[in-house]
Amino acid sequence: MLPPIFQSLVVVLALCAGTSVSQEPVTSLVSRRLTEYLLPVATQTHELARVPGSNFLLVSQMSNSQLIKIELDPASEEPVAYQSFPMGENSQSGLHGVWPSARFPGMMWLSLQSENRLLLVNPGQDISTAPSIITTIDIPEPGKGPHCVFEIGNRVWAGLKEASEQTGEYYVFSADVDNTTDTVLYPCLNSPVFIQEEPTTRLIYVTQDTASSIMRINITSGETAQLPIPPEAGNTPVGMTTASGPLSGVWFSLAGNDTGGSGSFGHIGSTGELQFFQLEKPLLGTNAGLLHIADASTAEGGPALWLLSTTLLSTNSADALIRVTFDDDITSVTGEEYISIPTQNAWAHRIITLDATVMLTELNTFTLAQLSYSNTVAGRWLPAQALTDPTIYDQEG
Ligand SMILES: *[C@@H]1O[C@H](CO)[C@@H](O)[C@H](O)[C@H]1NC(C)=O
Ligand SMILES: *[C@@H]1O[C@H](CO)[C@@H](O)[C@H](O)[C@H]1NC(C)=O
Ligand SMILES: *[C@@H]1O[C@H](CO)[C@@H](O)[C@H](O)[C@H]1NC(C)=O
Repeated sequence: MLPPIFQSLVVVLALCAGTSVSQEPVTSLVSRRLTEYLLPVATQTHELARVPGSNFLLVSQMSNSQLIKIELDPASEEPVAYQSFPMGENSQSGLHGVWPSARFPGMMWLSLQSENRLLLVNPGQDISTAPSIITTIDIPEPGKGPHCVFEIGNRVWAGLKEASEQTGEYYVFSADVDNTTDTVLYPCLNSPVFIQEEPTTRLIYVTQDTASSIMRINITSGETAQLPIPPEAGNTPVGMTTASGPLSGVWFSLAGNDTGGSGSFGHIGSTGELQFFQLEKPLLGTNAGLLHIADASTAEGGPALWLLSTTLLSTNSADALIRVTFDDDITSVTGEEYISIPTQNAWAHRIITLDATVMLTELNTFTLAQLSYSNTVAGRWLPAQALTDPTIYDQEG
């Protein structure tokens, strides 16, 4: 509280100012911010997933096989505290995949790539409780190196990233979560990363990065097929996500190669055809190396996707978050919103959406970043005319 003399001065100043103030109503400024959170030092910070129905986020650090449990403020979703736990037999166990179980609510799937093993863990009710192992699934020969892990229906899936010691081949693994001796290995190309189900046909699709092809699996017949990415559309499919509603199908992102990315991504719907989309904006868009993808659809913002461009494969691409919207028939991109990541050469890696914010990992800089908006929501940031003005400013000063 100010002393009385100052209080009166404030009143006088306010009255004087009031006489010359514009009649326009005061407008709250809208803002967006990307906040970076430092995690423990490690050379590889990889996957992230929220424990459903909780305020915990799990992040895997592969280079030292540590699982970081991060507590989120329930109102703002901001990270407020963390605790790290070693997973596996030692620091070389290669913790990589992190995925929530729907079949066992509150439990999380992890992969130990170097131990050739999947774990179902109870992450623990509070931040300081170590995760406890509920189920261990050893990958049978000739499979090697479970990287990303997923649960689809009653099966757990993993892309086996390493060439088999027995056959030299690559495989996609799946097991029945209620009978983990019921396992299948599907031979695939070099090498499987993301595995998702197309919601209408229930076919499984797998990105294979180096071979630049997508494998389709019919789990009923066991039949598989390869859908190569046409080189003119881009290369290196990595991230894949399932969407419903107007975007129904699986969406995948193309990461490019050491010459840079092509700013392209694709969709497979119920017809099974590959359909490609292209970012148009120069600087961050046309050269984007799109490593990961997430559904950005909201009631306020309509159907949309988040794309994550990365410097992982080439510094000709940037570390950036990109939100894209589509025409009514979902045949082309109509809106592109760009958010550069403050730390470049961070090797932006994975992206997930929370209730109102977006989280991503930076592989090279042991960082978690969070995008949040104030007084607006994603999808309302840029007025449409800002994107359609083709004028190029040709004055230097
Ligand atoms: C579990 O799966 C194995 C391998 O497919 C099968 O032989 C066994 O009968 C199954 N067990 C049960 C209880 O269904
Ligand atoms: C998957 O295979 C089963 C058994 O052969 C077949 O009935 C079904 O139509 C196939 N699914 C699709 C989407 O082709
Ligand atoms: C890298 O990608 C570019 C653009 O798609 C392509 O022209 C080039 O052949 C690729 N390089 C390699 C080594 O595959």
